[in-house]
Amino acid sequence: MDKYLKEAIAAAKKSGSLIRSRVGKTKTINYKGAIDLVTDVDKASERLIKDHLLKKFPQHLFLGEESGGQKEGCAYRWIVDPIDGTTNFAHDFPYFSVSIALEINCQPVVGVVYDPMHDELFYATKGGGAFLNEKKIRVSKIKDMKKSLLCTGFAYEIKGARDSNVEHFVDFLMTAQAIRRMGSAALDLCYVACGRFDGFWEIGLKPWDTAAAILVVTEAGGKLSKFNGSKYSHYDQEILATNGSIHTQMSRILMRRPKPKICKIIWNST
Ligand code: IPD
Repeated sequence: MDKYLKEAIAAAKKSGSLIRSRVGKTKTINYKGAIDLVTDVDKASERLIKDHLLKKFPQHLFLGEESGGQKEGCAYRWIVDPIDGTTNFAHDFPYFSVSIALEINCQPVVGVVYDPMHDELFYATKGGGAFLNEKKIRVSKIKDMKKSLLCTGFAYEIKGARDSNVEHFVDFLMTAQAIRRMGSAALDLCYVACGRFDGFWEIGLKPWDTAAAILVVTEAGGKLSKFNGSKYSHYDQEILATNGSIHTQMSRILMRRPKPKICKIIWNST
């Protein structure tokens, strides 16, 4: 696994430098939806990562947020979000990341999440532990949700969708110590992995937002599931990630509300 990790880190750092060099400068912005934007830097970052990885591993498949991807189900596929937290980046708000995962038969086996503004590199390999800048990381030890710091995010469809995360947000506001909405799900999950957050939930994330970071969470001793506690995959629409100890408490709160009606999307555009 080491050769894949090494190249994923090299690609993440290269693209991190590119992204950092464009902070504070004018960006070309296009809209994919009413509030879902993409900058020229997202596209350049994805091209750079794709070229790097496919040059090293020409037989591998690739799925990227901006360029789409190839059919799942084949042995090796890279899943990439070139800037997770594009809205933050577009506003020069320094909380965004590059997310690169390698999946084998739909299971993440390498995960790299790089925060270029703080030079923080989170990574994990299956069975090999989770690290932040080469130091092993573990989830927090908080046992009582009332003392926990939680994080969430809101899908771009929020303004049009009847079912949204707002009700859950209010429920946790009333029951946890505090909540943050930071704007990069990959980084939010890595913050659960290293104990800065005790729990994270969201509805409507895409495989490129989560594929790398869920491996970091698992390898750091955290727990992942759908809201009802059942098995989660990065192709699912709802995610609950915690330090393990507050998982059932959070699941109970999330199950108070009716299930959101989000249609299943299959991420195999070609
Ligand atoms: C977004 C971020 C955000 C989350 C959104 C995602 P993007 O990803 O991860 O935190 O709340 O649901 O779409 O579009 O910036 O790559």
